[in-house]
Amino acid sequence: MHLPDYKEARTRDRRDYHRVDFSFDSEIKNKYAGKTFYLKTYGCQMNEHDSETITALLISLGFSAVLDYHDADLILLNTCSIRENAHNKAFGMLGRIKHLKQQKPDLLVGICGCMAQEASVVDDILKNYRWVNFVFGTHNMYQLPNIIDKAIEEQKQQIEVFSREGDLVEGLPVVRTNSYKAYVNIIYGCDKFCTYCIVPYTRGRERSRAKEDILKEIDELIQDGYQEVTLLGQNVNAYGKDLYSDYTLANLLEEIAKKGLPRIRFMTSHPWDFTDQMIEVIAKYDNIMPSIHLPVQSGSSKILKLMGRRYTREEYLKLFHKIKDTIPKVSVSTDIIVGFPGESEEDFQETLSLVHECQYDNAYTFIFSKREGTPACKLKDFVSEEEKEERLHRLNEVVNYYFLENNKRLEGTVLPVLVEGFSSKKEDMYFGYSDTNKLINFTANSKIQVGEIVPVKITSAKTWSLDGELVE
Ligand code: 5AD
Ligand code: SF4
Repeated sequence: MHLPDYKEARTRDRRDYHRVDFSFDSEIKNKYAGKTFYLKTYGCQMNEHDSETITALLISLGFSAVLDYHDADLILLNTCSIRENAHNKAFGMLGRIKHLKQQKPDLLVGICGCMAQEASVVDDILKNYRWVNFVFGTHNMYQLPNIIDKAIEEQKQQIEVFSREGDLVEGLPVVRTNSYKAYVNIIYGCDKFCTYCIVPYTRGRERSRAKEDILKEIDELIQDGYQEVTLLGQNVNAYGKDLYSDYTLANLLEEIAKKGLPRIRFMTSHPWDFTDQMIEVIAKYDNIMPSIHLPVQSGSSKILKLMGRRYTREEYLKLFHKIKDTIPKVSVSTDIIVGFPGESEEDFQETLSLVHECQYDNAYTFIFSKREGTPACKLKDFVSEEEKEERLHRLNEVVNYYFLENNKRLEGTVLPVLVEGFSSKKEDMYFGYSDTNKLINFTANSKIQVGEIVPVKITSAKTWSLDGELVE
């Protein structure tokens, strides 16, 4: 048994990471043929992408996927720790699964992802969820086949969570959700330790993948006809720093762009490491999408300091305007937290005024959530819950106003759209995303294929989407 430990998870040293190739234990290949699994994913793109690997590992064991958890022989929750409501959702699901397990005692239940890295969660599972069959963490996903095998053979709870990241495992299998857009990890972990954030504890220190491994994966995706790749990392801008003396995200982006892949995206960027060279490369290549997620978190320098964000309001704005002025038609989105401990009405007003200045195309807004073990958890919090809700509401009104204003400016223009399928909300309409990452619902008389990039004329703007028609 390996239990999570935050003290250990916090430590960062210059250990060398070994690149190791994954190999599947051939003895257990297809051992569970005929069995079914249901995998529920919470949280960010990193988790979504991990679930693509988990799916592939389960399929290698012989499991096949089902859409309803009632039909599954194995239920696995890939969890998220970022805010308390993510926790609550996973525990709510566990409550429902408990009922099912009472009717189906042979049902296997597993928990993985970021919550598995939290000592308090695992403690709770050990005490109150003895019926959960296995738990594994973000650093040892590759061991899943053996953990399941052991849980079944030994008929006892398996807790296998490493607090310190291990080697960089390459060659893990993946079953991609889409055949036209793909996620590619470029860096794991985060060393920034923003005071509110649990990620540096659950995902470990920054570890870049070797550029050769990334480029090989991109080549394969191009060969398979993929149109869009999103380079993933908690902080992609730190790419290469732990591995190379002179090879950065700017170099990687340029090398990938030259391969001619139609669409390249990357996320998430911390404003701290956003270099001029990166801005130049993004501006230079048409296939690097003009869409940047640049989390600000707060418009108050005082709060930014308490958050440990490493930039002031002024420094952020300088970067923001440089990006806007240099990259043609770029759209910028952000993340904002309200109600951080010590946030006064004046501080909040500074956030509102920053939003008025930046006029974001999209923004994810959150109420500060205390995460056990993070420095901000210990800060005195004077803002009442009602006040936090109120601030969120006022902030949302302002951000929504600009989403619509920005969208209205696009009426009458033609945007390139990567077709994703039929719109779920609007009959007979396709949907897809523009280069600037706007959701577009559109009509088309001629037949078009999912995965094609087509020109769409924008006919009307909404707050969160645009309507249009195919230019035929
Ligand atoms: N409370 C609220 N929001 C948080 N985020 C990260 N940690 C917290 C927290 N403790 C938000 C940040 C980050 C996004 C992924 O989630 O805005 O950019
Ligand atoms: Fe969390 Fe900050 Fe790292 Fe983003 S940069 S994952 S907010 S610690």
